[in-house]
Amino acid sequence: MDLTNASALVTGGAGGFGGATVRRLAQRGAKVVIADVHADRGEALAKELGNGSVFVHTDIMDEASIENAVQTAVGLGPLRAAVVVHGGPPAPGATGPARTVNREGKRLALSQFAHTVNIYLNSAFAVTSQAAEAMAANEPLASNQRGVIINTASIAGYEGQPGQAGYSAAKGGIIGMTLTVARDLAPLGIRAMAIAPGTFLTLAYASRMTDEQAQAHWGPMVLNPKRMGDPDEYAILAAHIVENDFLNGTTIRLDAGQRF
Ligand SMILES: NC(=O)c1ccc[n+]([C@@H]2O[C@H](COP(=O)([O-])OP(=O)(O)OC[C@H]3O[C@@H](n4cnc5c(N)ncnc54)[C@H](O)[C@@H]3O)[C@@H](O)[C@H]2O)c1
Repeated sequence: MDLTNASALVTGGAGGFGGATVRRLAQRGAKVVIADVHADRGEALAKELGNGSVFVHTDIMDEASIENAVQTAVGLGPLRAAVVVHGGPPAPGATGPARTVNREGKRLALSQFAHTVNIYLNSAFAVTSQAAEAMAANEPLASNQRGVIINTASIAGYEGQPGQAGYSAAKGGIIGMTLTVARDLAPLGIRAMAIAPGTFLTLAYASRMTDEQAQAHWGPMVLNPKRMGDPDEYAILAAHIVENDFLNGTTIRLDAGQRF
């Protein structure tokens, strides 16, 4: 998929994976909509790129906000790539991961489970379907392709850890829907893929510990190389998926062999 004179959309574009992906897609010639709630980081990135990429304040929990981001991208050029890689707010009142039944014998609130699924699965489908609708209106390239959509799963979608029922259900949902969405969109010349990252040193860890502490804790769990992933390693794969028309309908584990 050639991105020359095209636009791209990256949800969570001001984040760790998202920021690295925005840079890689801009290098490929796309004007990128950096769709995120974090204005400072998003605007700084758009300014740094200086190629017509823009920050668009986007709340992934709000369909109208997603539509605004998609339409902004369409206004920059035909939308040919969408990378769905946002995080989201913790459930109101939640103190962190929670087991299905905790040590005090109390079950996880359904609202907390549903909130996690909303952020990581429902909103991902909302972006996927809205981006696909916009891509369907593109003139096909000589390859007969109109666009590509990349969602973000996790190794927790295969091997969830205690306290991750909602998160692993959502990420398993991404893995499950990818082939179906690819089949739905095939007649339109739109591909659907997903990446299942292992443990990467993104901003998600910054609020909890220093980079050195994160590496010391998580690095040894990785098979080889024994370190956390660099967000640019995600972005390199995302850019390759965009470029390689023969990748479709599957989820690629990007975890340096990590298994729990
Ligand atoms: N870091 C890892 O090890 C890892 C592993 C597997 C999967 N993932 C997945 O990667 C994705 C991105 O995570 P990351 O590690 O880059 O985190 P990150 O914190 O670096 O980036 C997440 C971005 O999402 C944005 N965001 C938060 N709430 C939002 C909202 N309501 N609307 C729009 N944007 C919002 C944040 O502002 C941030 O810029 C998530 O889906 C996560 O589950 C991460």
